[in-house]
Amino acid sequence: MKIMFFNITHGRKLFKPVAFIKHCHTRYRKKPKYGTRYLKEGSNIFSFNAWDDVEWDEAKEQEALNKVQQNSMIKFSPDEIGKFNSEADKFWNAFYDIHDNKFFKDRHWLFTEFPELSSTNDEKLNIFELGCGVGNTIFPLLQYNTNQLLKVYGCDFSKKAVDILRESENFDAKRSQVFVLDVTETDWNVPFEENSIDIIVIIFVLSAIHPDKYKGIVTNIHKYLKPGGLVLFRDYGRYDLAQLRFKPGRSLGENFYVRGDGTQVYFFTQEDVKELFEEAGFVEKENRADRRLQVNRGRLLTMYRVWIQAKYQKIN
Ligand SMILES: C[S@@+](CC[C@H](N)C(=O)[O-])C[C@H]1O[C@@H](n2cnc3c(N)ncnc32)[C@H](O)[C@@H]1O
Repeated sequence: MKIMFFNITHGRKLFKPVAFIKHCHTRYRKKPKYGTRYLKEGSNIFSFNAWDDVEWDEAKEQEALNKVQQNSMIKFSPDEIGKFNSEADKFWNAFYDIHDNKFFKDRHWLFTEFPELSSTNDEKLNIFELGCGVGNTIFPLLQYNTNQLLKVYGCDFSKKAVDILRESENFDAKRSQVFVLDVTETDWNVPFEENSIDIIVIIFVLSAIHPDKYKGIVTNIHKYLKPGGLVLFRDYGRYDLAQLRFKPGRSLGENFYVRGDGTQVYFFTQEDVKELFEEAGFVEKENRADRRLQVNRGRLLTMYRVWIQAKYQKIN
């Protein structure tokens, strides 16, 4: 299996929307920009905590493939696999019971990676987030997008997550609406019409779902987006550190695993994402692998993160 490399360095967006910069809290501003620290020959690898857009050679890829082959050898029985699927919402409810809103961090990189989310004009804008969890995307959106006609919808199949989100002091019921929905259902019960959403956001959500369900989900995404509307996708990439760290005995299928807490995770290639959206009739606007080398300077360890980031448009 081969990972496809796009020319990611040149496609990188460093654009920060004016509204975002103007209203930024210093906490957001001080973060180092991604896409500015490139590892060159002769660089001291331990001089930074992270390096952007790191290239992988054949040897590195083979090493990762070997690890995946090893950790995928032992599989669960079909009954156990069925249980992780049918009770997925229970595992996520238990996750939020334990972690409340303390586990995921607010998505600071949202507006640099997806400037489409930061419209400054006051034209009506409907955004829908699938698998919104406890609001780590919705809250920055509501806070930094100054558009008064913005409406942000969010759904999650974890009732616990939706309750935590709604009860947050930052929740703005005028500009947002969140509800419980299992996006693997064939017919979505949603508070808006077909062809009515400008942007659908799916961040680290499809990976939590069985790959057999992706086609149905993308078909529904297509149905609810306006013609010309955009899907913004970011998720785990093949051979990410999280995949290589799995021990044998956690595999549910090819590149699909279950964590100790019962939540599932799939690791995408760029081709997976391309095929999924193009087969549903979308046009590709971006599809890149974001590879970052993270360095533990204290313990002199190096770790590779891989995320797939993509944008697809519904044809007008
Ligand atoms: C890794 S979390 C990401 C949460 C959020 N998107 C973020 O970036 O912080 C995955 C989320 O997807 C939700 N999820 C998983 N499967 C789902 C499904 N079938 N329908 C709706 N939500 C789902 C989980 O409850 C969880 O909140």
